[in-house]
Amino acid sequence: MSTVVLIGAQWGDEGKGKVTDFLAEKAQMVVRYQGGNNAGHTVVVDDREFKLHLIPSGILYENKVCIIGNGTVIDPKVLLEELKSLRDRGVNTDNLRISSKAHVIMPYHQRIDAADEESKGNQKIGTTGRGIGPAYMDKSARVGVRMADLVDDEEFPKVLESALAQKNRLLTEYYGVEGFDYKELLQEYQGYAQELRGYVEDVSVLVSGTIEEGRNVLFEGAQGTMLDLDHGTYPFVTSSHPVAASACLGTGIGPTKIDKVIGVAKAYITRVGEGPFPTELFDETGKFIRKQGHEFGTTTGRPRRCGWFDAVVARYSARINGLDYLSITKLDVLSGMDTIKICTGYKYKGEVMNEFPESRKALAACEPIYEEYPGWKEDISAVRKYEDLPDTTKRYLERLGEVSGVPVGIIGIGPKRSQTIIMEKLY
Ligand code: GDP
Ligand code: IMO
Ligand code: MG
Repeated sequence: MSTVVLIGAQWGDEGKGKVTDFLAEKAQMVVRYQGGNNAGHTVVVDDREFKLHLIPSGILYENKVCIIGNGTVIDPKVLLEELKSLRDRGVNTDNLRISSKAHVIMPYHQRIDAADEESKGNQKIGTTGRGIGPAYMDKSARVGVRMADLVDDEEFPKVLESALAQKNRLLTEYYGVEGFDYKELLQEYQGYAQELRGYVEDVSVLVSGTIEEGRNVLFEGAQGTMLDLDHGTYPFVTSSHPVAASACLGTGIGPTKIDKVIGVAKAYITRVGEGPFPTELFDETGKFIRKQGHEFGTTTGRPRRCGWFDAVVARYSARINGLDYLSITKLDVLSGMDTIKICTGYKYKGEVMNEFPESRKALAACEPIYEEYPGWKEDISAVRKYEDLPDTTKRYLERLGEVSGVPVGIIGIGPKRSQTIIMEKLY
């Protein structure tokens, strides 16, 4: 039996979708446990590209049970569109199960998200605009709509009526934007409920049962450690917990059930949206990485900010998540560079700082300390064995593992399933 939690070890978009798809082959079940359709996970199967936002990447296999856990927030309209687009492409979606405790993103959440960003001006977070923060706010404030409410024809009208009265006041009186009509919203969402009802159940029972049977379960994190509400670069974070511990909370299983944690990290680093990013590159090198790596957001299409691999972030991520292995992705993107840098620490007030600073003021004043390594010119995307990588590539990888304090278990040298080198057996 093996249960593996796979998380983003940086600021998201590390290639979690691709690695999940690769590891899912040996799993019985794949579980999303937090976040919503702010996530954009790209999976390439036989030259066909799929962009998944809510549905676990395991759905692309015929026989994997795919779970959307209670820790997620679900936009029913987006979920139905995603289901339809998968079905239209011949993917069987019957194996999907949705937690009755997951919270629903309503259209007022998106409108509040947009109005709130607008009102913040240059202090904005740069959210994906999908209503994620406002939906989690309602969950914490205990006024949210859960999937169980949505699919209950008696409960939903009551829950919506009281939630909407409050939201319409907020939208019209505070933000000065339009509210929503109760009857229209009720009708529209009862329609979605009708289509989703069959998928909704107590997923904690399903996940626990599968673990008890000794099957392999893979937990697919969304976003990344540095976007975590508690442990990320607050306030420039998302409103959920992308860290490994959240796999338990967001599914309804205990911590003793997790065997291994894998952190996915790019061979460099990217960030979308606002917020601190110590190793960000503003020069031609940053542009080169963006172009080579097609670094544009999967969900919003925004250009991703690019920078050098940051080992302070990697060590922090190793600690917060208890990482067993790193999965280093997009190594192929660095081919063609003369030199490659790794940030090993930060300089703060003349001293070397090895831990990621907790205070925003300190973080803003930190300067990265770099080690420089020779690059490689070879195209490595067709390499299938570690030994066949150029010596300079191997040296760079070895150093990434050393400075991160975590062994490299998987290497990505392209977006396809086959473009993966396994260093450590995970199941
Ligand atoms: P996620 O949100 O962590 O799943 O990552 P995204 O899908 O948003 O972004 C990662 C992008 O890199 C996707 O377009 C993947 O197809 C692609 N990708 C993943 N691994 C590799 C790799 O090893 N090499 C290359 N060149 N592309 C990769
Ligand atoms: P995946 O799963 C990268 C970022 C947004 C913004 C901040 C808050 O594909 O790695 P939100 O809409 O969540 O309130 O936005 O978080 N963000 C992501 N960045 N990858 C993601 O998901 C992200 N999901 C949210 O850009 O800075
Ligand atoms: Mg993404």
